[in-house]
Formats: sequence, structure tokens, C-alpha cells
Amino acid sequence: MAQQLNPIEQTHRRLTAAGKRILRLYAGNPNDQGFHFPGEILERAYRDYFRRQDYRPHPKGLPQAREAIAGYYARQGAALDPEHLILTSGTSESFFHLFSLLAGPGDNLLAPVPAYPLFDAIAELAQVELRHYALREDRAWGIDFEDIERRADARSRAVILVSPNNPTGAVASREEVARLVAWADAKDLPLICDEVFSEFYFGPASFPRPMALQRPKLCFTLNGLSKMFALPGLKLSWIALSGEAARVAPALDRLETIADTFLSCHIPIQEALPALFAEGAPFLADYRREVRRRRDLAVALLQEESALRFVPPQGGFYLTLSVAKEMPFDEEGFVIRLMEEEGVFLHPGYFYDDESGTHLVLSFLAQEPELRAGIAALRRFIHRY
Ligand SMILES: Cc1ncc(COP(=O)(O)O)c(C=O)c1O
Repeated sequence: MAQQLNPIEQTHRRLTAAGKRILRLYAGNPNDQGFHFPGEILERAYRDYFRRQDYRPHPKGLPQAREAIAGYYARQGAALDPEHLILTSGTSESFFHLFSLLAGPGDNLLAPVPAYPLFDAIAELAQVELRHYALREDRAWGIDFEDIERRADARSRAVILVSPNNPTGAVASREEVARLVAWADAKDLPLICDEVFSEFYFGPASFPRPMALQRPKLCFTLNGLSKMFALPGLKLSWIALSGEAARVAPALDRLETIADTFLSCHIPIQEALPALFAEGAPFLADYRREVRRRRDLAVALLQEESALRFVPPQGGFYLTLSVAKEMPFDEEGFVIRLMEEEGVFLHPGYFYDDESGTHLVLSFLAQEPELRAGIAALRRFIHRY
């Protein structure tokens, strides 16, 4: 059965069908915003495979790919055994495998809210209950530890951390990481760390990575090429396992069996991975600099507007706004009218399980003219009412 479209998506389709140009100022696909990994590096790396065309998969992923990923972490001060990596064809798949591994019917997993919108769908497929713990806007979108404590029970099986966060832009500080790991370790709960935005960290010093900072008893660190190298189409991600040997070994064993069942990773991209890491550094440096520039621009433009409130993002591609002015619409009505009147599409907080009814989500990955035009239109709209 076709899924019923929500009123916001219905509006989008209606306006687009009528020929109206809509600026989708929530989009997080780097390819749509002018970021493209150098094609020559990929062509060179793929050429060998296409000449040879053989198939020798490894359940965990090809060793040379896993060594390249371990090298990436080592350069950032995090020791990782290449044997403790499992390659997947997307972070959503990583989550699905982990949810299936860690929990069954009746169990629950603790996930932050606001949250990456696919968590609920993945949990439903894996037949696992997701319990939302709050991120607190009044604490710069920090973790509400009292809330985690309240939500957890004897059937909790893991706690998820998304840092840098989509959609709040918050990055868990060293202190938060220490507290979360101490809490999870005391309860024997593994930590699942979604770090797909770790290359886009705008804070001081280096990115606070739980695996390296606190060494949780059992930690699954997730990342991939989608955001890191602006290559969402090549579908390569990974799960890095770390922690106490006695806890890592059985988890690794079962994950390897799950991965072996599907062997879902495309071989040429696995073969190409060492070249991507070795030769992609200049691209990554430019890309990070440009994302940072757009983030700073968006922050400066939004700060000019006293009717908008937001916590300046410390990482990622997104920020979460609220309107500090009485408006004659609810969150959904606001998004629809903004799209109808100004052709600007922001996401409502409820797309991210945020039930407060007061938030809008914006991606600052858009190019400068779009960021300027979109934010000017948002301000115009707010002052019209
Ligand atoms: C927080 C977060 N995790 C995971 C993903 C999905 O990554 P992938 O493309 O590797 O499936 C996204 C995509 O936007 C995301 O925002």
C-alpha cells in the first residue's frame, strides 16, 4: 500500500507540479550542494577492478579497506584493530544490524530526541522498541541524564549517541562523553556512536570521540563515506568495535555472521578505499573549510534576526531554530505557509520526533546565494505576521 503523504509533502508536490521553484533548505546531500569527490581518483581506483573483475568477498569487508579505515582512526589518535571492523552498505544498514544483534522483541534501545528520522523505521523493522531520551535545548542541546536514567530499565540493551547531532548541531563535550560512558558501563550497556558528521566538527581541539576518550566496555562507532567524502552514492559505511576483549569478541562474531549473510558491500569501492583515504585529503580539507564557511555565514545571518533563537551548531550540517514571536500557525502550518508564500522549505521539528511543536530544522550545507535568499525569505515571512 502506498504511504500516505503528510500535509507538508503534499504541499511540496502541489507547488512543484504547479511550476513553483522550492528552495529545500533542509537538504543534507552534499552532492546537491556542489561537493563532489575528485572523479579522477575514483576512476583510477576502479580501473584495476574493471580490468580484472573477480569476486573474493570477505564477510567483514576486504582487508585492505579495513586497514585503510583503521589507519584513518590511528591518524586521529584512536587505535583500532582492522579485525574489529565490519563494512556495511550504509549507516542505516549498520543500525539495522546492530539493533538486530543487540535486542529482540520486548527489549528496548535508548535513542536521543530530536533524532535522525530513520531510527524509528529501522527499529520497527528490527522489531525493537526505541525509547527516546531528551536532548535539552536549554542546555545547548546537551544530554538529559536524568531522562536517560528514567527511561532505562532491565530490558534496555544499548544507548545511542549521535554526535555531531542531526538535527541540533550539538557535539557531546568531553564531560558529557565521560558521564555517558560511566553511566552505560555501570549498567553494562553498549554504546552506539553515530559519528557520520565527525569530520565537520567546529569546536575547539579535536573531536571528542568516545571510543578514544573513555574506552567504553563495549562501543560500536559508526561512520561511512556518505558525508565524510561526499560519496553517498557509493554506499560504504562501517561499524568499528572497541572495548573489553571478552565483550567485543562475541559481538564481532555475531556481526560477522550477519554481514556474511548479505555480503552487501560493493567490491570495487572496497578496493578503492585505500586510495580514497590516501589521495582524498586535499579534497576533504577544502570541503570541511567550505562547510565551516557556510555554517559561519548561516549563523551570522540568523543572529541578525532577534525573532529567531538557536544554539550555534558545533558540528554537522544542521541546526534547529525556534521562532521567538507569536505566530498564527502551529509548526506544520508555519512550514506549509512559508513554502507557499516564500518558496522556502524547512523541516518541522516533528519530522525528528521532536514533539514540542516549536522547532524548524535548517541545513546550512546550501550554497551561499541560497542560504542568503532562504534566510531573508524566512525573516520576511516572520515579520509579515
Ligand atoms: C545522523 C545520521 N546518521 C546516519 C545517516 C545515514 O548515513 P548513510 O548515508 O551512511 O546511510 C545520516 C544521513 O543523513 C544521518 O544524518
